[in-house]
Amino acid sequence: MKQHRANQDPDHLDSEGDLNISPRRAAWVADHIDEETKALLDEDAWYFLHQSLSTPCLNVLRACDGVYIEDYQGRRIMDFHGNWVHQVGFRNPRVIAAITEQLHTLPFCTRRYTNVPAIKLAKKLAELAPGMLNKVLFAPGGALAMGMALKLARVATGRFKTISMWDAFHGASLDTISIGGEAVFRRGIGPLLPGTEHVPPPNPSACPFGCERRCSLKCAEYIDYVLEKEGDVAAVVAETVRSTPYIPPVEYWQIVRKACDRHGALLILDEIPHALGRTGTMFTCEHYGIEPDILVLGKGLGGGIFPLAAMLARENLDVAKDGALGHYTHEKNPVACAAALAAIHFLEEENILARTRTLGAWALDRMRMMMERHRLIGDVRGLGLMLGMELVKDRATMERASQAAEEVMYRALSRGLSFKLTMGNIIVLAPALTITQEEMAKALDILDICITEVEAGGTAD
Ligand SMILES: Cc1ncc(COP(=O)(O)O)c(C=O)c1O
Repeated sequence: MKQHRANQDPDHLDSEGDLNISPRRAAWVADHIDEETKALLDEDAWYFLHQSLSTPCLNVLRACDGVYIEDYQGRRIMDFHGNWVHQVGFRNPRVIAAITEQLHTLPFCTRRYTNVPAIKLAKKLAELAPGMLNKVLFAPGGALAMGMALKLARVATGRFKTISMWDAFHGASLDTISIGGEAVFRRGIGPLLPGTEHVPPPNPSACPFGCERRCSLKCAEYIDYVLEKEGDVAAVVAETVRSTPYIPPVEYWQIVRKACDRHGALLILDEIPHALGRTGTMFTCEHYGIEPDILVLGKGLGGGIFPLAAMLARENLDVAKDGALGHYTHEKNPVACAAALAAIHFLEEENILARTRTLGAWALDRMRMMMERHRLIGDVRGLGLMLGMELVKDRATMERASQAAEEVMYRALSRGLSFKLTMGNIIVLAPALTITQEEMAKALDILDICITEVEAGGTAD
């Protein structure tokens, strides 16, 4: 296999997001943060343990609404990151009404009891999910739900090995960083779960099989190869579409699905950031015409307010009746379930999925036009309103322009647009799905201006 250049690249620690320890971050704070906010940031930084992706924080928020977040100094910023929780927009009135009503009757459900919102939500998810994914377990977070999926795969197959992808993220717990593929989480932490093999993700811009930007599907065939060689893999675990976004061709998942069936491995798809509409369908695997054995969702499931995740499993995987897969205190939290039901009803009644497809296609077209004018843009891609723009030093080599990307990010923030960088050089655009075309156009205008400025000014890239 060809050596992937990121292995020699010091910015490999940027894989999950932009880091909070960069000089540009410090310069932005110095220019934009007043004394009162600074005092709050200092207090936050004193009390919270520091981590490279969170504390010390950039700024302090005091409100959010729809597409916008508002900082302590009253700046309204379009949030194209939102940690992927904001499908229905921030502070969605229908979600708030459902939560408020539930708070006044049954705000918590003691274990051994169930409640109507939890039953209704499980039924709704089973109805919406493809095929036989009719059995449900809830958890208070995505990593916990992924952990349940790993346990279920072990119990169901009697095997423990997994195949997952380099660069992937499935959560920050010890089991999920073992199947994740990002150095910032794995480095220096000691022994990880045994039997967690990794394979290259379907990323044609940095393909170790040398497919040179047009997926040759060798990466899918390689999964079949590893399954064959190991012979006793419990599950292949992957994000259907990496939020970067890397969008594999349809044949990719069809090959992997068949390989799993051939070798008796389960297919676990992590759709935590993008199920429930982000890509224009309720579940992202619908784009691929395949059905996983286990599907995990979370993030926006709690209506952008409650921490809630779910594992959906095929009916015949109800095989741990005398064990414990989850057993979490807030497993059937009625308020979280009421929020989720309201969010799903909102998506359905407001026809958000169709809007997402149309607006996403329109935005991607505009991004393609930007690419014609800007040498810095090496690639644009997207599915629904999961959009990405890769900034490169040179389109022929696709060498990352991480410095330029960071400069664009902070310039955009100064103009009222917030987004996340991933892999150091990829601008990820994930607005609330309630965004209007005018707001989307405004955000892309801001991006266009900032890229023009950075190209004109030159950076270390
Ligand atoms: C693909 C993916 N899987 C799992 C997780 C973990 O979810 P949580 O932060 O709720 O544990 C995330 C969170 O960013 C994610 O993006």
